[in-house]
Amino acid sequence: MQAIDLVVFGASGDLSQRKLFPALFQLFIDHHLPEPVRIIAITRSKITRKVFLKAITPMCQQRQDCQTLLAEFFSKIILLQVELDQPEQLQQLQHTLRVDACWIYYFAVPPQAYAPLVQGLMQHDCINSNSRVVVEKPIGQDALSAAAIQNCLSRAFDESQIFRIDHYLGKETVQNIMALRFGNAILEPLWRAERIDYMQITVAEELGVENRGGYYDRSGALRDMVQNHLLQLLCICTMEPPAQLTAYAVRDEKLKVLSALRPITPMDVVHKTVRGQYRAAPVGKNQSQLKNNVSYVEEPDVNPLSTTETFAAIKVEIDNWRWAGMPIYLRTGKKMQRQHSEIVIQFKEVPHKLFRHSPSNLLSNRLVITLQPEEKIRLFLNTKAPGRGMSLDPVALNLDMKDTTNHTNKHRRWDAYERLIVDILQGDLTLFMREKEVAEAWRWVDPIIQGWQQWMPTPEPYISGSWGPVAADQLLARDGHIWHNPV
Ligand code: BG6
Repeated sequence: MQAIDLVVFGASGDLSQRKLFPALFQLFIDHHLPEPVRIIAITRSKITRKVFLKAITPMCQQRQDCQTLLAEFFSKIILLQVELDQPEQLQQLQHTLRVDACWIYYFAVPPQAYAPLVQGLMQHDCINSNSRVVVEKPIGQDALSAAAIQNCLSRAFDESQIFRIDHYLGKETVQNIMALRFGNAILEPLWRAERIDYMQITVAEELGVENRGGYYDRSGALRDMVQNHLLQLLCICTMEPPAQLTAYAVRDEKLKVLSALRPITPMDVVHKTVRGQYRAAPVGKNQSQLKNNVSYVEEPDVNPLSTTETFAAIKVEIDNWRWAGMPIYLRTGKKMQRQHSEIVIQFKEVPHKLFRHSPSNLLSNRLVITLQPEEKIRLFLNTKAPGRGMSLDPVALNLDMKDTTNHTNKHRRWDAYERLIVDILQGDLTLFMREKEVAEAWRWVDPIIQGWQQWMPTPEPYISGSWGPVAADQLLARDGHIWHNPV
C-alpha cells in the first residue's frame, strides 16, 4: 500500500481535538492506519509540540489509556505552524511531504480559508492527481457561496479527489437503515406512500451552542443541521435501491431524491415550517437537568439581538411515484428536553377495523429507528393482551444494537469519524456527498431562508428543556398527527 501523508489544517481546533485525533488514535490502536503513515498537524497558533500533544491527550486517553501506545501514535505526528492567509508559508509543508506518498489534506478550518489554502498548495506543487482533499459541512451559506467553494476546490482537484464529509453518513445506525431497507425483502413492498402514513425525522440535542456561538450565530439550525444531516437521513430513508453499493450508484439515488423535493416557496414557509430560539428555563423548571441555563442570545459570541434559529421543523414532500402525497416531518433543535435522534415510519391503519370494540387503543404499525443516544430499531405490532376478551396491545419487536456487539471486541462499534477516515484513506467516496447533492440541497433550502427573512424574521421562543415551540406541535396537528417524543 502507498505511504500516506495526512495533513490536518486546523489541528488545534475543536473538531480536530475532539473528533479527528481521537479517531486517528483509535484507528492506530486497531491497526487500521496504513503503514507508513504520517500525520502532519498544521496550526496557526505558535504552540510547541509538547503543548499540542498535551491538548489532544485527554480525548485520546478516553479511547485507551496506555502511555506506550500514545507515545507510538504521537511519533507519527509532525507539527507545523502556518498562517493560513500567507500561502508562502506552505513552503515548509512542501519540504516535509514525502514525494512517493499520497497527500491527503483535511481542511478542518472555516471555508473562508479554503481559497488561500488551495492557492498555496498549488503554488508549492503540493497537489497531484493522487492527492485528496477533505472538507466539512456546511459547505457555504447558500447555493451561491457553495458554488464559489466548489469553484475554488475544482481549480485544483477533480471531483473524485474531493471528500465532502457529513459525519451522519458514517454513523452505524444510519448505515443500518440501508441494511434494513435493502438487505430484507419483506420491507420493500411496504416502503411507499400507499402503505406509510408519514415519516418523522428528529435530531434533538440537549446541549446548547456551547463554545461555538460565533459560528452558530451565522449559521442557525437550518444551515447547520437541516441542509446536510437531516436531508441526508431523508435521502437514505427514501432513495430507490441503488444497483450497486458504489459511490456513483448510491449518490445518484440520493441526488434523485433531493431533486424531487417539492420546493417550499418563500410564501409557503408560514404553514410548512417553524423556526424557534431557546430561552432560559424559568427558575425551578428542570434546573437539575439544565447546565448553563441561559437564553440563546446570552450565549458567548452570540449577538444579543440575534434572530438566528436554534430549532427548525419542516413539512417535506417528495414529488415522485413512490412518495407522492406522503409528508415527512423534519425537526431539529438545541437545548431540547433530551438528546434524541429518531426516525419514525408510521404505517397506515388496517383497511378494516376488526377490533374496533377492543377496549385498548389500536395503534397502526410503526417502525422506530433510534440513532442516538442508544441505537435500536423497534417494530411496533399489535398483539392480544393476555386474559379474557380481545384486547390488543402494541408490542415492540426490539433490535437493540448493543446485543449485536460481542465481548471480544471483534465487532466493536465504530465512531462515525473512524469509519469516514478509513474510507478517505482507501479512496472510497460512497459515504461522502458529491457536489450536485450539496447544490441541490441548497437549491431547496435557499427559498426557505428567503421566506424566513421576509415572513418569519423573528423565531418563536421555546423553553430550554422542552420539545420546541408550540408552533411545531401545531404544524403536525394541522395534519392530525403528533410528534413522537420519548417518554
Ligand atoms: C454538527 C453540528 O455537524 O453536528 C453541531 O455542527 C451538532 O451543531 C452536531 O451539535 C451533532 O452531531 P452528533 O453526532 O453529536 O449528533
